[in-house]
Amino acid sequence: MKADNTASLSRRIEALKREKRAVILAHYYTRPEVQAVADFLGDSLALSVKAQAVDADIILFAGVHFMAETAKVLCPGKKVLIPCPEAGCSLAESCDAAEFAAFKAKYPGHKVVSYVNTTVGVKALTDICCTSSNALQVVRSIPEEQPVIFAPDRNLGSYIRKLTGRSNMVLWDGACHVHEEFSLEKLLALKKEHPEAHVVAHPECRAYIVEAADFVGSTAAILDYCGRSDAREFIVVTEAGILAEMQRRYPDRTFIPAPPDDESCGCNNCCYMKMVTLENIVSCLENESPEIILDEEVRRKAERSILNMIKIG
Ligand code: 13P
Ligand code: SF4
Repeated sequence: MKADNTASLSRRIEALKREKRAVILAHYYTRPEVQAVADFLGDSLALSVKAQAVDADIILFAGVHFMAETAKVLCPGKKVLIPCPEAGCSLAESCDAAEFAAFKAKYPGHKVVSYVNTTVGVKALTDICCTSSNALQVVRSIPEEQPVIFAPDRNLGSYIRKLTGRSNMVLWDGACHVHEEFSLEKLLALKKEHPEAHVVAHPECRAYIVEAADFVGSTAAILDYCGRSDAREFIVVTEAGILAEMQRRYPDRTFIPAPPDDESCGCNNCCYMKMVTLENIVSCLENESPEIILDEEVRRKAERSILNMIKIG
């Protein structure tokens, strides 16, 4: 995108925000120019919490569909806009609500913990939501003898199962196409080239990647770690959009994106997050559409599971 076009779209967005009392919440995986027009930038936990507190008539969610749905669940009285409703999430889509209801019925007496990367229908079938920032705390809040269903990410689920040593945790078999694509071979080769670099990875990556990492954490936890670590170089094994925020916060440090298995596919970029553009933000604010509309009964059930999470932290 040409710089002058970016500047004029950004100015238009700022004017529309003032005129309509709108705020933009954006995830770290969105395009850098989208992050630049956001009022709040965060990981999925921070953005869910922020959505509850914003003083605005309109929330425009620059992120994927489940994130905007989460904001609407928590703010039923506000207009929640999504600039690109086609921006889905392979992880959320790997867990269909009807199939999940049938799965849940096979495990009576289990508490359901679902990652926030789910549709509102799955959240409505959930006891406590979690994000990658608080999944461990959420699972630890459940008495050890209580069996648990963990959905939908099998990698995050097995990571938490390993950390807690819980054998009574059944996993839904879902995954994120971005985090599953990282190659161990290429990661180890990169580590050889940069022996001083620390490897930081998201727990949605496969177990062999997580085992090779110096630090494993959510988007926000990784950002924090890069600030407090003694290392000066980091190999980043998560969605590459986070590099913009890393460089902004720590300009004296070097961040190297880990390559996916097939480098021609560009899969260390979430194609869904990149569907949000300055152009569709302008059009969405001008038209106040597309808007997230939810069935009230489903919304209320989903809200309970998200609030149960927020209470825990
Ligand atoms: P965070 O919970 O780290 O924001 O992750 C969200 C996500 O979509 C990861 O792929
Ligand atoms: Fe979903 Fe993966 Fe994109 Fe995150 S990176 S929004 S889990 S597809």
